Amino acid sequence: MCGIVGYIGPDEAWTTIVEGLKRLEYRGYDSAGIAAIDSQGTLRCVRRKGKLNVLLNAVGGDWVPGKIGIGHTRWATHGRPSDENAHPHCIDDIALVHNGIIENAAELRDMLLAQGQRFTSETDTEVIAHLIALSKGDSLEERVRKAIPQLRGAYSIAVISSQSPDRLVVAKQASPLVIGVKDGVGLIASDIPALLDQTQTFIFLEDGDIAVIKQSGINITDINGKAINRPSKTIEWSPTMAEKGGYKHFMHKELHEQPRAMADSIRGRVRADGTVHIPEEILHKCASSSRIVVCACGSSWHAGLVARLAFEDLADIATEVELASELRYRKALLDNRSVVIAISQSGETADTIAAVKLAKERGATTIAIVNVMESSLARLCDHVLYTQAGPEIGVASTKALTTQMAVLILMAIAAGQYKQVLSETSAQHIIAQMLEIPRHLESILEREEELKSIANELKSAQSALFIGRSYGYPAALEGALKLKEISYIHAEGYAGGELKHGPIALVEPRVPIVAIATEGPTYDKLLANIAEVKAREGRVYAIGPENEPRLAHEAHRLFTIARVHPVLSPLLTTAALQIIAYHVADQLGADVDQPRNLAKSVTVE
Ligand code: F6R
Repeated sequence: MCGIVGYIGPDEAWTTIVEGLKRLEYRGYDSAGIAAIDSQGTLRCVRRKGKLNVLLNAVGGDWVPGKIGIGHTRWATHGRPSDENAHPHCIDDIALVHNGIIENAAELRDMLLAQGQRFTSETDTEVIAHLIALSKGDSLEERVRKAIPQLRGAYSIAVISSQSPDRLVVAKQASPLVIGVKDGVGLIASDIPALLDQTQTFIFLEDGDIAVIKQSGINITDINGKAINRPSKTIEWSPTMAEKGGYKHFMHKELHEQPRAMADSIRGRVRADGTVHIPEEILHKCASSSRIVVCACGSSWHAGLVARLAFEDLADIATEVELASELRYRKALLDNRSVVIAISQSGETADTIAAVKLAKERGATTIAIVNVMESSLARLCDHVLYTQAGPEIGVASTKALTTQMAVLILMAIAAGQYKQVLSETSAQHIIAQMLEIPRHLESILEREEELKSIANELKSAQSALFIGRSYGYPAALEGALKLKEISYIHAEGYAGGELKHGPIALVEPRVPIVAIATEGPTYDKLLANIAEVKAREGRVYAIGPENEPRLAHEAHRLFTIARVHPVLSPLLTTAALQIIAYHVADQLGADVDQPRNLAKSVTVE
């Protein structure tokens, strides 16, 4: 939520900042702004309500000049989206951008008002700018150091001052911030993709760090000014991975990247002899745990539901799945025999991080399943398994989710082998089929027109129901979430068995039912649910295994997927549902990559 970019170097700062903001817009698009200091030492700022394009159009070619600057793209927390509430906030010689929430902003505002300060916005951020602006005389970093202890909450900030135009000062607490490493240039951003066209080497700041970035180098200290050494790391993401590459939307590109992302996520973990490589320490912890608790938010939570089924089916390990936002405030009965698996694309989701911190306090072993290298969650957990999805820019998760599911299924297979509850023959059978998943995803994409025509029928609905059982249930929840978040069509996902306990009342010809049929013990039960819906004039769109005449007979439309072991079926059904949702939204002319009110990386509660 909120994207920050900063530049100091030999070129006009705004060029790098605008490029960075374009790549960060998935973090929020309520307003955008840039401040820079020109060669005469004048601080100037432009900011506008709305997407970055609104700012670009407003400015035309007339940018704020200067070789040092900061920029921001906002997801509104305190204060509605408006020009006044847009960042940067400029007070006296200071310009400041902020990502996070200051919890004691109201108290600080009252204190500053009592001191005679005037406020021009409703934001929590403006109090930080005032606090820094008030302490005159010291170096910029000292002024930041004096302001920070007064703040309570989450923040990553970047500050420039017309009194010291040779430096950018940044500070981080519970919101992400990276420094790009490049000779003769100072670069900072909320996220790696913003700077990928400049560098692939990054320093990842930790909570409490304050950094001074000059053209000549980077100096990181703690709040007391004590020097800290943070190593730089090279990230294997290329700049083109964060570009649209000819696709209309990032989401469409990312859907088409699924076969590659899946292959990368699976192949690195399957050895030549067909066994799965997951570090033994992780397997030992999982196998000897009293229970596994999976926690995540949104789509990543749906991957957790698949993990629960897989750990129970393949490894006989009792597994629970928790919404991180609930777990963090519960009297969670975790101890040193619990294993907590946290799933997150970004590795920056505030609730998931808080739940992991709680788990660690209670002595649990924590394992992160994360896409973004060196993200907060990756660094926080005892162990980390990376998905290899590559950068995901579209706000709606696609390839990140299916690769999370794949890594979790591989973990469950390996745990089952480690515990010797999964026979070698069964394990080899599933692994062999798993290696075929990228090819099956390719063939789903080759049949995109079929999914597009289903989307064409769904797009006029006001409301839709998604049903599934067993491995089809997480897919149903995901199908409904994807549809509602990008097309704004109301949709609900239900376990098929729940239909009769309420939702069947909604069934009528205008409410399409999307049924995800997964082979296994619940297959016939789902067919019965479909029959019940049809008996009430419901129109059923089914996603299910090929060569299944009964399903073909029952469904109004059927999209078939390859016959695979049930545990692998969500990898294919989910991909098909994501493609349907994409085409519904696209055909409705929705802003697919930047749906209203959403942001990709939910770094505030
Ligand atoms: C939905 C979506 C979100 C995220 C959720 C968690 O398409 O993308 O529901 O899954 O915000 O984000 P991460 O995985 O980054 O923790």
